[in-house]
Order: sequence, then C-alpha cells, then structure tokens
Amino acid sequence: MPLRLPLLMTDHVAGKRSAVTCALKCDNQCFGPTCNTSSNGYFRDIAAAALSRRALLGGAAAGAVAIAVTTGTQAAPAQAAGPGVLPAEGGGPAGSPLEFDAISPVLLKTDEFTVPEGFAWHPIIRWGDKLWSDAPDFDWDAQSGETQSVQFGYNNDYTEIQEVPGSDGLRAVMFVNHEYTNENIMLPPHTDAATITEVGLAAHGLTVVDLERDDRRSPYRYVVDGEHNRRLLSDTPYALTGPAAGSDLLTTVDDPSGREVLGTFGNCSGGLTPWGTLLSGEENFHAYFRAPGTSDADKRYGITDKATARGWENTHARFDTRTPGYENETNRFGWIVEVDPWDPTSTPRKHTALGRFKHEGANVIVAENGHVVAYSGDDEKFDYLYKFVSHGTYVEGDRKHNMTLLEEGDLYVARFTGNSPAAEIDGTGAVPADGSFDGSGEWIPLVVGGRSRVPGFSVEEALVHTRLAADAVSPTKMDRCEDVEPSLASRRVYVACTNNSDRGASGKAAPDEANPRRENRDGHVVEIDEQGDQTSTTFAWNLLLVCGDPAQGDVTYFSGFPRDKVSPISCPDNLAFDSVGNLWISTDGAPDGIGYNDGLFRVTLTGDARGRVEQFLSVPADAETCGPIVRDQDRTAFVSVQHPGEEGSYEEPTSMFPEFEKGSGPRPTVVQVLPTPRPTAFTDVPEGTMYYDEIMWMASEGITTGYPDGTFRPLSPVNRDAMAEYLYRLAGAPAITPPRTQPFTDVRPGMEHYEAMIWAYQQGIAQGFGDRTFRPTAPIARDAMAAFLYRYAGSPETAAPTSPPFTDVPARSQFAREIAWLKAEGISTGWADGTYRPLAPIHRDAMAAFLHRATVTRRISFRKAG
Ligand code: FEO
Ligand code: CA
Ligand code: CA
Repeated sequence: MPLRLPLLMTDHVAGKRSAVTCALKCDNQCFGPTCNTSSNGYFRDIAAAALSRRALLGGAAAGAVAIAVTTGTQAAPAQAAGPGVLPAEGGGPAGSPLEFDAISPVLLKTDEFTVPEGFAWHPIIRWGDKLWSDAPDFDWDAQSGETQSVQFGYNNDYTEIQEVPGSDGLRAVMFVNHEYTNENIMLPPHTDAATITEVGLAAHGLTVVDLERDDRRSPYRYVVDGEHNRRLLSDTPYALTGPAAGSDLLTTVDDPSGREVLGTFGNCSGGLTPWGTLLSGEENFHAYFRAPGTSDADKRYGITDKATARGWENTHARFDTRTPGYENETNRFGWIVEVDPWDPTSTPRKHTALGRFKHEGANVIVAENGHVVAYSGDDEKFDYLYKFVSHGTYVEGDRKHNMTLLEEGDLYVARFTGNSPAAEIDGTGAVPADGSFDGSGEWIPLVVGGRSRVPGFSVEEALVHTRLAADAVSPTKMDRCEDVEPSLASRRVYVACTNNSDRGASGKAAPDEANPRRENRDGHVVEIDEQGDQTSTTFAWNLLLVCGDPAQGDVTYFSGFPRDKVSPISCPDNLAFDSVGNLWISTDGAPDGIGYNDGLFRVTLTGDARGRVEQFLSVPADAETCGPIVRDQDRTAFVSVQHPGEEGSYEEPTSMFPEFEKGSGPRPTVVQVLPTPRPTAFTDVPEGTMYYDEIMWMASEGITTGYPDGTFRPLSPVNRDAMAEYLYRLAGAPAITPPRTQPFTDVRPGMEHYEAMIWAYQQGIAQGFGDRTFRPTAPIARDAMAAFLYRYAGSPETAAPTSPPFTDVPARSQFAREIAWLKAEGISTGWADGTYRPLAPIHRDAMAAFLHRATVTRRISFRKAG
C-alpha cells in the first residue's frame, strides 16, 4: 500500500502557516507542548486579557481581513491596493543602482511570481534538474533515490552565490540548502513506500553547483558537469569538530569514535564566511527521529516517541533512537555545518563549539580585534539568541588557518532588558512613552576559555544540550529568532523574530520590550549595537520593525516612518544587505499573517527614511521566500522559492510554478530577478564602437533614447539641454515645481527638455548666462560639464586648487575647483598632452563615458548642495 504522509490537519487553525508546512517542515512543533518550559524569564498572568487580537482591533479591521481572505481563495491574480511607498528622494542611503517602484502586495493563493515594472524573473535551477550529463532528466513518473541523488534537491532554502575570482563575474559557485521534502506533491500517488523513502532522503541535504552568464546583465544558468558540482546526501560523512567531538554523548554503534556523522537534515538558513565557506543550520532535526522522548534533553528538543511523518525509522535503524546502539543519534544533529564549496572532495564539518539547538543558520563577522563572531538564532517559540566568539583570530589570506576558527571559542546566550516600565509594554504592540522599544542587553557566558560557566554542566554537556544549559542562566525567551545578520556597513546586528502565536498565552512568557506583542502573529526585527567591539558582552538594542499591515489596522512600528507609506510585511525570516547598507528581508508566513503571498522587501536603515519598507517581489501560491541575495551593483537579486503549492496534492496542484505554461509543477526553484533588457541598438553604434558599453548603459537606463531616426550620433557634441536632461534622468526625473516666472528668456514651457532645464536651475546645477539665457542648443563646454557634475554631486567640500589641475586650467580660473574635483574623482583624466581643453565641446560618446564613470564607477548620485 502506498505510503502517504499523515496529513491529518483539517482542524489545524492555530498556526502561522500552512498546515502541511507545519507538519513537514518542523513536525508541528508549534502544536506540541512548548519545549522551553524553563521558568526563566518573565511570567505574567495575562489570562484575563487574553482577548483575541482581532477583537481588540474592532470590527473594521476584522472586516478588512475577511475580505482579503475570501478574495484570495479564488486564486485570481488580483492585486491589492498599492502601499503608497514614498519615492527614494529625501532620505536613506543613496547610491544603490537597484532602483524599483515597490510592487503592490499580492493576495494569498495567487499563483504568480510578481516583480517590479521593468524587471523580469528567470529560473536558474529547479528541483530535479540534473547536475551531471549522465544523470537522467527530471521525470515526475520515474523518480528514484538514484535519480534524485544526481539532481538538484527539494525545497531550496539558504542560497549563496560567490563569483569565481578572475572570471569577471561571468562564472560563479552557488550553494543551496534543501530543508525538507513534501512527498505528497513530489511523487505520484502510486509510488511504493521504499521509493518514497529513498527519494525523500536524497532530496534532503545540500547542493553546490556552478553558474555562468554571458555578461552582468544576463541571467545566470547552471552548468551541467560544472567542476564544483556536488550533492551532499544522507550518507555523506561530516566530521564533528570542537570540544564535544568524540564525546560519549555523540557515539553510536556505527561511529564509536563520536567524530563522524552521516548526512545533515532540516538545513534552513546559513551564512557565508569571510574565507569563502558556507555555514548551514540544522534546524528542525527532531522531525526525523523517533525516540523514547522521556529524557529532559528529548523533551527540551521536542523529540518524541511518535512515528515521524516520513517514517524513515521503519527502514533505517538510526532514525529510531530506541534502537540499542543509536541512543545518541539525535545528538549528532542540530549543529552548524561548514562546507567548502570550492573543493568538491572536502569533508564538511559540524562545529560543536557553536552549540546544539535548532539553528536557523549562522552569520560571521570579523571583530575589530580579529576574533571571529558568529550569531545564531534558535528558531522555536520562546527559545534564545546565541553568539560565538572564536578563540583564534582571522588572518587575511591564510584560508587554511581561518577554516579552523569555528572549531574553538566561547559561547554566549542573550538577555535583553527593556528601559520602559513593564506596564507600558501592554502586549498590543503600542510604542512605549519613550518612543521606542529599546534597552540594554548582555551576552551571558555558557562556555568561555574552554570551561563551562553553567553550574552542573560539563563543556560537552553545555554544547550538546545547549538549550538545557542556557535555561540555567536566564536568557530572554524570544519570538523565534530566524536569520541573525551583522551589517558589514554599520556592524549592527539584525535579528528576524518571525512570530510567536503563544506569546502571552496562559502559562507562557508574557510580552516584554524585546518581544512586545501578545500572540505575535507578524513578527518583528531587532537591531543590536554591540557596546565596544563585536566581541563585547554588552549591547544596546531597539526594535527596527514591528511588522503587520497598517492598512488592516494592525498595530505596527516602522522606526517612526509613516505607516501609510510602507509595504505591509509579516513574518520576517531571511536577511541580506545591499552594497549601500539597506536591509533586505524575505518573509515566510505572510499569507496567514496579513493575507498576502510572501515576498522580498527592502528596508532603509538610515536617514529620514529609516524604517521604510518597499516590496520588491512576491512568490507564488503557498511558497515562502528564502535565501535572498542582493547584488545591487549588477541590479539583480536572487531568491529561493521554497514549497510552492505546498497545500495542494499531486493530482490537484495549487501551483504550477515555475513552468506555468507547461501545466506542470510545482517545483521549488532558485530565481534571479533582473531588469528587462530595453531595445538598445542604435544604427550608428555597432558593437566594438568606442564607449559601446557606456552608450548601451545610457540607453538601458533610459538616460538617452537617441534620435528618432534610430541613431545616437556618438560624435556629435552634447548640447546644454541634453546635459540637463541626462542629469535629470539620472536623478530619477522627479516632479518639478513650475516656476512663477521663467528663469531664462530662452526656455519656455513645452520646449523639449523644459522640465530638465528648470529642475537643473532649481537645484542649483545650471545657472545660465549673465544675460538670463540658458542657450539650450549650444554645445556644452568641458568646463561647464565639470561644474554641472560637481553641483549634481552636492558641491562636495574640496579645497580650492593651489596648483593648476591641468596645464591649461590655471589654479585661479573659473571652474578650476570643479575641474580639479573631476580629476580627483577619476572621472576625467584630461588629454594625453596634459591639457583639459575647458572650452572644447564634448562628444556624445565621451559624455556616456563620463556619466558612467561618475554614477556607476564612482557611485555619485544626486545630492542637493547645502
Ligand atoms: Fe526553517 Fe526557521 O525556518
Ligand atoms: Ca523604551
Ligand atoms: Ca527560515
């Protein structure tokens, strides 16, 4: 009889997410008893106040939600009302070349992949795609453990892409976690039990695969037979490292040494180390084991004696720790794994020094004093946030040495203390009187200097039973820490607390300032500022976001940014940063939170727009958004689309992603999002033309459209009106305030480039001539071009030159300062004879090169002077 997974969940309503996801991803951990029953932390009896949050919000909000849910179940590609996101001007880190207009949120159950206007999405690799040419092509009806082991695994979660050095960005190595399987939609109903087990086993694990692309504007494709291609499977040996390796707690009949484990399971998120290896978190490993379930450790890790969803324990003895000889098998999972993707023969490692819990992932930063710091969240309701500090220090260029840094060090767990009176944290999410959820915190030692700091625990016990050790030192019970990611720009650390529907429930921890919302449905994001260097044991913290949909009446907080100007966001999960320090958040659970499909969002962290949330993409029905990678210099982003169509069945799929048109699916897939190529060909700019790339860049950015006859006329001079137009478009073509009186006698409304010239005047970029003319059709001279660009950059403070920047630009001449700045910025190096020729015109092709150098290479963006 075919084995179908036990999906008995018709009454499954308490959760944050799909019943199927709950069952298969984490074995319904939210529905079992709370694993953390330790009495540490705050307890407050709030039973009397246990009104449903919707009741608290009143009828209007409840009605709004009901409408969203009903409409959504029709699976129509309906779009909700736009979020009214503010334009980028006026705050936030400028300079990211990845510009987009936020998409409207997409109603749940809509089976579409939605990207901003001007962008397109491209599947890179799908579940089942073969990694080697001698592997079979994916065939729904002909799956086996053997075929799956040479194909891309299921449910891609954490994803990282590293460019191959020296390949000019044209080749890369991708690393992907395969978190879990959903055999019900993977395999036809008639599949035999043995095949279901073997396919499920082989679809777990990790993948390394080579990528290539034609140029930085084209999507990657994966390389069959790539030199780094590798599947890490359930029988791949992993070496245990660190203080607990070899411990009696880790030995089994198969591995009396306690130093070698086969396979990795439940791999959720991860991180890239500064030495180019990948970390992967073994998260919901408990779901794979049947056990006595009676020990304190089994209970604390949610390991029980009930049959597992996949039933591997029936055919593989080690998944049943009631079997003599395998008592410790569960202790061999729940670690941070380190993989070297550059060496397909390398042995991956599990680092015991980072402790054992349901690691979401781990992210590393090199501290100012050279020690390496890894942050990791334990993703379960009321569990903790951890930090590891390496014993050794990072040595630039010594990869062999750096690869040992996670094998020995100190382990801490976090305690957060709020600075507002407890009475002001009322559980609604309302901001306390001092204006922010904030306070101080400390890292409480568990293991330091090779010694346990927890009474009653040896080092080995503290590392293998880390949850129990941590309970003893009273850390803060958190609302499910997912990704914990340090910003390399600010060194601040961001913690995605995805949700906790039990916060404040009877007998459970009450809201506190770091987890301020009762029945926290939509999650929040914590910002940590270490006091001193990154290895410090004290920190300051505040909440960056308290998530939700303000339009539905949710009580939210966006660091003071106007609530009516953000994209609604729920259940933050994975985090990434772009090149200018914006935070990007992918979500998992928004359908049940706010009634929209999950997505990827940009969050501004600094300036006036701190807290602004802008939605970049939305994933198809039932899917979560994972593994975001943002390469804004290439104007591209990647996401892993995990468990699309999770709530359907094989016969009645709820998603056809990603091959919608072929009518088959769903298949978890890594996706790249890129600007749609615009028609760029000019009849007089064949490939190979001088400054061809820069001219194409101008065209693809919409800075120039050329002439109506299809030419660009690269050797014609740039006129003054065109120069104004280029800068105006580079600044995003903002709306202008029509002047009451015209500033120039020769610039009139309705003229070509009128807005651009008025904008340039109003922003102080172009002043015109003494006779109140602008002379739009006169060629712009090279000295005026320098002045325009200098003012466009905000007239940065520079000393007046004391010597001539060029032989023909005396130090005290008009525009000498601007020309000297242009030279210092490397935008113009002048002519080979040492001259600048300030009064000469500029050809249109050279202008393309100047503008490209200024705005792409030097990343100069429009900034109002003063
Ligand atoms: Fe697999 Fe914590 O998400
Ligand atoms: Ca406060
Ligand atoms: Ca996750």
